Amino acid sequence: MYQYLKIMRMEQKFINKIEELYKKYNNDVQSLREEQRPLSFGDEKLEYRKYDDLEAEILYMLVKEYKPSVIKELGCAGGWSCSWMLQALKEIGSGKCNSFDPAPVQSDLDKIKKLERAKHWEFRSVQAQRAHMWHSVIPTIDFLFIDALHETKFHKWCIDTLIEPIRKNGKKVPVVVHDVFINSDKFHSTCHVFDRYLRDNKISWFTASDGFKTEHKNLLSLRNTLSIGREGNLSSSTKNPSIFFILNDKIE
Ligand SMILES: C[S@@+](CC[C@H](N)C(=O)[O-])C[C@H]1O[C@@H](n2cnc3c(N)ncnc32)[C@H](O)[C@@H]1O
Repeated sequence: MYQYLKIMRMEQKFINKIEELYKKYNNDVQSLREEQRPLSFGDEKLEYRKYDDLEAEILYMLVKEYKPSVIKELGCAGGWSCSWMLQALKEIGSGKCNSFDPAPVQSDLDKIKKLERAKHWEFRSVQAQRAHMWHSVIPTIDFLFIDALHETKFHKWCIDTLIEPIRKNGKKVPVVVHDVFINSDKFHSTCHVFDRYLRDNKISWFTASDGFKTEHKNLLSLRNTLSIGREGNLSSSTKNPSIFFILNDKIE
């Protein structure tokens, strides 16, 4: 029990990996930020955007790097997080993002639908728990994005129904969960199940959260050196509370 009370830090090797991705995809990230600008401030502005700059860039780079055929997105709202993943699929030239949300922001989704990258998208207005007989689609999942119900019960359902079956299946699958480190270097109270799961299975993880002051500052400084984001943020929040981990992949 005592071990769960200790603060668990990010491993340097995962930090190195994210820095490498920034150097590798620097030009792509800068171009995409320009493409995202009208969705943030222009006529095509999305009203609901709850995904911050650093975590959105990392989400995009992980899709570019792992080239998933099938992404499952749980909690799409107006499609802002989705729009970053769709652009990566468009650039790869293949793959689908299946998004599920029972109460989306329809006016925003209509704007996303007009984008060329939307041909990689299938949206269903349904609760994630009812979207599939999940056990039958587990082997097809290549990337998992979770930003739906921020409750322990739902997070436990995600681990039991999606994450652990994917891990047992043995495929390398990136997993992203939002709102885990909210202005803090501690797992949010609804996310202790993730803390326990990651420790028990010795899975390393990464976050760009501003709760990890030194690491967050270093990442901002790397982006600045690479000339990313100098024109200002696309999102109004700078919390970047997502956690990222890769099932069945030893980060070296
Ligand atoms: C914080 S928002 C998602 C923000 C979005 N990722 C973005 O980039 O702006 C959470 C969304 O989860 C949806 N949601 C709530 N319960 C859900 C469930 N059981 N399955 C899927 N989505 C759910 C809500 O309707 C809401 O739109």
